[in-house]
Amino acid sequence: MQQPMPENMEVDQGSTPAAARGQVLRVAALSKAFHGHLGLGRTVAVHRVDFEVGEGEIFGLLGPNGAGKTTTMKLMLGLLRPDGGEIRLFGAPPSDVDARSRIGYLPENPYFYDYLTAEEFLDFYARLQGIPRAERRDRVRATIERVGLAGKEGIALRKFSKGMTQRVGLAQAIQHEPDLVILDEPMSGLDPIGRREVRDLILSLKEDGKTIFFSSHILQDAEMLCDRVAILRKGRVRSSGSLRSMISGSIRWFEVALRGSPPEMPAAEVVSTTGDETLLRVPDVHALTRLLNLLESDGCQVLSVWPRRESLEDMFLREVASDEEEGEES
Ligand SMILES: Nc1ncnc2c1ncn2[C@@H]1O[C@H](COP(=O)(O)OP(=O)(O)OP(=O)(O)O)[C@@H](O)[C@H]1O
Ligand SMILES: [Mg+2]
Repeated sequence: MQQPMPENMEVDQGSTPAAARGQVLRVAALSKAFHGHLGLGRTVAVHRVDFEVGEGEIFGLLGPNGAGKTTTMKLMLGLLRPDGGEIRLFGAPPSDVDARSRIGYLPENPYFYDYLTAEEFLDFYARLQGIPRAERRDRVRATIERVGLAGKEGIALRKFSKGMTQRVGLAQAIQHEPDLVILDEPMSGLDPIGRREVRDLILSLKEDGKTIFFSSHILQDAEMLCDRVAILRKGRVRSSGSLRSMISGSIRWFEVALRGSPPEMPAAEVVSTTGDETLLRVPDVHALTRLLNLLESDGCQVLSVWPRRESLEDMFLREVASDEEEGEES
């Protein structure tokens, strides 16, 4: 297994290492800088990035705007040339034709020839993807159904909303049944129902044994979907590993809702009061036990006790904040 680079905080590789299940993607010490006009100015977009993705995993590449997510994905697809490092897709370099044929890709801002209808567009892609003529029509129809565009197949793409365009993009990424689906911000532009449908679609791809690699800003979606994530910031992996081990291990505090006047206890902080109900926060299980004993002796009614675990959003903000504290030298 790839050794983590010193600047990476490798948390955990998950319970089943990628190598044990069959490795679909490996990125090692990947670097890319962009140069400005006439070679002036230099932006380090990706710096010695490492990760591995195993067969059947859902892997999330997370990070704020400009972190290097899209650049990493374009490098993986061979759309950009790296300055350094190595990429292996099904054990082959990104230029390998067989490896490429096993990949589906949704770009960040898909642009499609918009005088075609959804069905014509997907048929065009099906030809490029080598789907046999006899199967094409049924495959296109099935994909349209799968991405929630049934009934819209005859409409020209120029009349599509952003969310509908995103679904067409997803359709072309999956209709040739690729083993690895690479999606750059697949939830972008979708309303909550659309996001849920895309989440379900991603889960159904996983059930079919596919590997999914996606970038997202929507941490809640990533939290619901990903087996493992890497958090990218300023082109570097700040942390990576199994989501479960990264976020759900520690209870950060307990919240206790009660009816009646709260007891005097320095460790119990009042979060809010509504009518005769109070929400208190205590830092740990010892304080919780003391509080519950006090409440019982005071005759207070406990309405709920809620352990608050760190969410992906908490972790994400912590990573970004710690990076900011390091200042510009990082
Ligand atoms: N073609 C390019 N020429 C010059 N700089 C670029 C180019 N593409 C990306 N960059 C720079 O590289 C850095 C990483 O950009 P990238 O698009 O990979 O980020 P991202 O994580 O995908 O951001 P977002 O969340 O906004 O999509 C940014 O500073 C960006 O300005
Ligand atoms: Mg991007």
